[in-house]
Amino acid sequence: MSAVVLRGFGWRHAGRRQWAVRGVDLRIEAGERVLLLGPSGAGKSTLLAALAGLLPEDSGEQEGTVEIDGLDPRKARERVGIVFQDPETQLVMARSGDDVAFGLENRGVPAEEIWPRVDEALRRVGFPYHRDRPTAALSGGEQQRLALAGALALRPGLLLLDEPTANLDPAGAALIRRAVADALDADTTLILVEHRVTEALPLVDRVVVLEPGGGVRVDGPPEAVFAAHGDALAAAGVWVPGRGLPPRHATAPPGEALLTADRLGLPPRLAHTDLQVRAGEAVAVLGPNGAGKSTLALLLGGLLRPGTGAVIAADALAGRDARTPPHRWRAPALARRIGSVFQDPEHQFVTGTVREELALGPRRTGQDETAVRATVDRLLDRLGLARLAGANPYTLSGGEARRLSVATALATAPRLLICDEPTFGQDRRTWRELVDLFAELRDAGHGLVAVTHDPDFVAALADRTLTLERADRVRTPDSEERP
Ligand SMILES: Nc1ncnc2c1ncn2[C@@H]1O[C@H](COP(=O)(O)OP(=O)(O)OP(=O)(O)O)[C@@H](O)[C@H]1O
Ligand SMILES: [Mg+2]
Repeated sequence: MSAVVLRGFGWRHAGRRQWAVRGVDLRIEAGERVLLLGPSGAGKSTLLAALAGLLPEDSGEQEGTVEIDGLDPRKARERVGIVFQDPETQLVMARSGDDVAFGLENRGVPAEEIWPRVDEALRRVGFPYHRDRPTAALSGGEQQRLALAGALALRPGLLLLDEPTANLDPAGAALIRRAVADALDADTTLILVEHRVTEALPLVDRVVVLEPGGGVRVDGPPEAVFAAHGDALAAAGVWVPGRGLPPRHATAPPGEALLTADRLGLPPRLAHTDLQVRAGEAVAVLGPNGAGKSTLALLLGGLLRPGTGAVIAADALAGRDARTPPHRWRAPALARRIGSVFQDPEHQFVTGTVREELALGPRRTGQDETAVRATVDRLLDRLGLARLAGANPYTLSGGEARRLSVATALATAPRLLICDEPTFGQDRRTWRELVDLFAELRDAGHGLVAVTHDPDFVAALADRTLTLERADRVRTPDSEERP
């Protein structure tokens, strides 16, 4: 069990003018369960990194102090378990079980205890494979489970979880929350960062909201915090329980067909799927982790050659390439017609600044500099990235990076946009902007396919859904039109 004390704590990352987090005074007693909230970019992940002793002294500037049981966190690392926002950055070993064992070995756990603890941790998080499973073969959600198993196996006094369910299907997310609840000893201290408050509340007894400009905005028991500050928090971007957002469904019927998937074979066991995307409609692709959703996104995006079945682009999308499947189009033609946003945004960035990153696509499609600037400024402004225009894309927070990767696809306004988890890591305000931008694109006659686990997103935007099953079955239960 570990207690945390922050006094006037602040951290400014090297190379940034603004403080990532500042003026935080906070005392967390051993055994407390805290939900740490705040808009995207407010400094939540930075604060967790500080507590985990993962901010090297030469990587930025510190103000004030942070202590775990009276120690500098850099000297208290064996008391802390952390699951990062992007689980891929956490996995170090080639085989899943080895990855969990690695942390135990590091902390000098006796050899005979290691494998029973590994298997126990894997079981607790519902890890669906044998411990020999290659980590490189795990879906995003499966990686998240493995990272959590690694943290739980350590039986830490302080457990830090940064959006541990953001990549999970609803059943997986519920399982993880149960695993966390069960795994916590009465005296384990928990600090959980999670934008979606409603689901997280059963795990916590205290809510702390960071103020982006610095300091703690509110601190207290969940009911009291939301009763007294609900409106102000919602306006500031916090997902306040029970406060829905108006939907943005298509007002006109869909137009011509753009792309058809014809008996496409999808892993893991080659389920077949058929799907047609039309102009002016938003289709949500749902389904459990590992059902092949990301593979479907790559196939529809023309980024992968279908093993079985075909992706057929209609004349309206393909123009003079109508006889050629999208995966064989030349890159500039593909980029003009079909835009893709991958599940993991970090794989997409190729320039040194946020502004350059956004300008790249419009420039390639032949826009003049004035038009490029207008497009870029509009997206920077709407997605809350303007103050980060000069920042390196690889230093963005999780939510900022996700918005940038969606924005780079929106910047070229392709006729068809394929997105994998576009709303991942967003606060209520940035989420609203993303939904509005998608709705505007759709209402202008573009097609949208979004792979998503976000039920609010489906409710607000999807005109149709396709649900992939893990087994050999593909169902389109509600693929009928909305009334
Ligand atoms: N390694 C880094 N180098 C420079 N700046 C960084 C780095 N990591 C984060 N930042 C910046 O610090 C600020 C706080 O980032 P942080 O990741 O702590 O936010 P967050 O509250 O976790 O946001 P999100 O909800 O989007 O994950 C952001 O403006 C971010 O761009
Ligand atoms: Mg974060």
